Amino acid sequence: MIGAAALNPRIRDWREMRVWVIGASTGIGAETAKLLLALGARVALSARNEAALQAIAGGHAQALTLPLDVTDAAQVLHARDRLLAEWQRIDLVLLVAGVYNEMRADQIDMTVVNRTLDVNLRGVFNGLDAVLPTLLAQRSGGVGIVSSVAGFRGLPRALAYGPTKAALINLAESLYIDLRPRGVAVYLINPGFVDTPATRQNDFEMPALIGAADAAREIVHGIARGEFHIHFPKRFTNWLRFARLLPYRLYFWLIHKVTGL
Ligand SMILES: NC(=O)c1ccc[n+]([C@@H]2O[C@H](COP(=O)([O-])OP(=O)(O)OC[C@H]3O[C@@H](n4cnc5c(N)ncnc54)[C@H](OP(=O)(O)O)[C@@H]3O)[C@@H](O)[C@H]2O)c1
Repeated sequence: MIGAAALNPRIRDWREMRVWVIGASTGIGAETAKLLLALGARVALSARNEAALQAIAGGHAQALTLPLDVTDAAQVLHARDRLLAEWQRIDLVLLVAGVYNEMRADQIDMTVVNRTLDVNLRGVFNGLDAVLPTLLAQRSGGVGIVSSVAGFRGLPRALAYGPTKAALINLAESLYIDLRPRGVAVYLINPGFVDTPATRQNDFEMPALIGAADAAREIVHGIARGEFHIHFPKRFTNWLRFARLLPYRLYFWLIHKVTGL
């Protein structure tokens, strides 16, 4: 039935939650892990940089550091096994790890293309492959995929990055259809511009730029409210959601008008 009810269950108390954040060493993932720890959740932190993970965990009794390279399926499975040995269950997995490099059609670099596909897309599948059997067996818990508004439609400068994020939006929708009836929540997280090491390379002015701690709050509150599509800041993302509906002629004209490209 179509109604205004939340698409996922609400979360009232984070102290009951065992959360795995993959991509927790810097930026949005690091701030989300810190916020969840502050709210009393148990948090497992993964990324390649072990020293950074330990610094973010800060000796917190509720934190577990599980270093891994998300492109290496065996490492992800090994981390999942360590997590389950420690906690016995998983309540939420946030697939945050991603790489961004500016690219236009006259400068295709296949090393960067392959790296972007490996981390942003295959990395997410490695994470899903590791956790979905557990979530399905539990008939509870959830998985959040960090995509981007850059996945809504084609944009300039995002030749490698944009297609991976478009694929993640499609993937999250497909997952919701399969998983929600089986008790597993799915969250599609589409940030606008967030100030992190990834965006500091941009040499253009980023509209409606927000801090990583603000992004973390949006993510955690959106999940707690049971939203499927968590996008922010709304003053930017609502415009892009509208632009998604435009016919091509109007859309290409608007992008040229706004970016000059
Ligand atoms: N910043 C924005 O404006 C923005 C907007 C929309 C969407 N996003 C998305 O948000 C997510 C986080 O981005 P961010 O801006 O916070 O960037 P960031 O600060 O560069 O963080 C990226 C995270 O991904 C991890 N990572 C990268 N490659 C990895 C690998 N092979 N294995 C494991 N972990 C890996 C990094 O850790 P290690 O290097 O330690 O491995 C780091 O923890 C990304 O998916 C990004 O596309 C960002």
